[in-house]
Amino acid sequence: MSDDRLILAMDVPNALAGLKLAEDLGDAVSFYKIGLGMLTGGGLALANELKDEHGKKIFLDMKLFDIPATVEAAVRGLASFNHEFLTVHGDPYVVRAAANGAAGTNTNILAVTILTSLDRADLDTALIKPGEIVDLVQERAGRAFEAGANGIICSPQEAALIRALPEADGKRIVTPGVRPAGADKGDQKRVMTPSQAIAAGADHVVVGRPIWKADNPKAAAQAITAEMSSPQAVSPNKMH
Ligand code: C5P
Repeated sequence: MSDDRLILAMDVPNALAGLKLAEDLGDAVSFYKIGLGMLTGGGLALANELKDEHGKKIFLDMKLFDIPATVEAAVRGLASFNHEFLTVHGDPYVVRAAANGAAGTNTNILAVTILTSLDRADLDTALIKPGEIVDLVQERAGRAFEAGANGIICSPQEAALIRALPEADGKRIVTPGVRPAGADKGDQKRVMTPSQAIAAGADHVVVGRPIWKADNPKAAAQAITAEMSSPQAVSPNKMH
């Protein structure tokens, strides 16, 4: 049985490989994240096919960032497909423009706070104000919510702090950087298990390689949804 708290990061090269994977997974996965890596490989067409022909939910991970008019126009076009989630960078003017572009559609805008690949030295180079990254993440999340974000994408380590914000009430928290106990971490450094991420306040977990690189992707996905349904994984978010 599928559980839409699990989102599969479909980081395969093209739409044909993605369609084959989705067919192999069948009803074990109901939510797919399609991002920039598949943009030139038919990613948007695959997103629409998975939604329209297979009844799947789609997270378009486009991390848009531009002047407000351009963000609004790009979001208006992408949101016309009524996919579930679309990411933009969490600067308030970007989020506000995205919220305008998505108005009247079913697309929820998720804001990126600070990319988890960045450390303090990277922020210094980019002239970002001093302070602990975790504090900046929480502040940016609050401002993104105020600007109209429907949710935040963040590391599981940041989920509890963001969930505690008054502005986060009723908003979605989506966390990549999730690994089943004992799985290969790949290049992810600060990981939690799916049930730990849910317990920390995540509504959805994004998992890629532990599923699509597995010998049996369907069994890997089913093991994750089973783990999320264990008693330890009770979400503090009253909305769900
Ligand atoms: O294979 P893995 O489970 O590490 O894939 C995680 C997915 O989430 C990838 O698509 C990656 O780009 C994305 N992601 C992430 N960390 C972020 C934002 C997105 O791992 N901070």
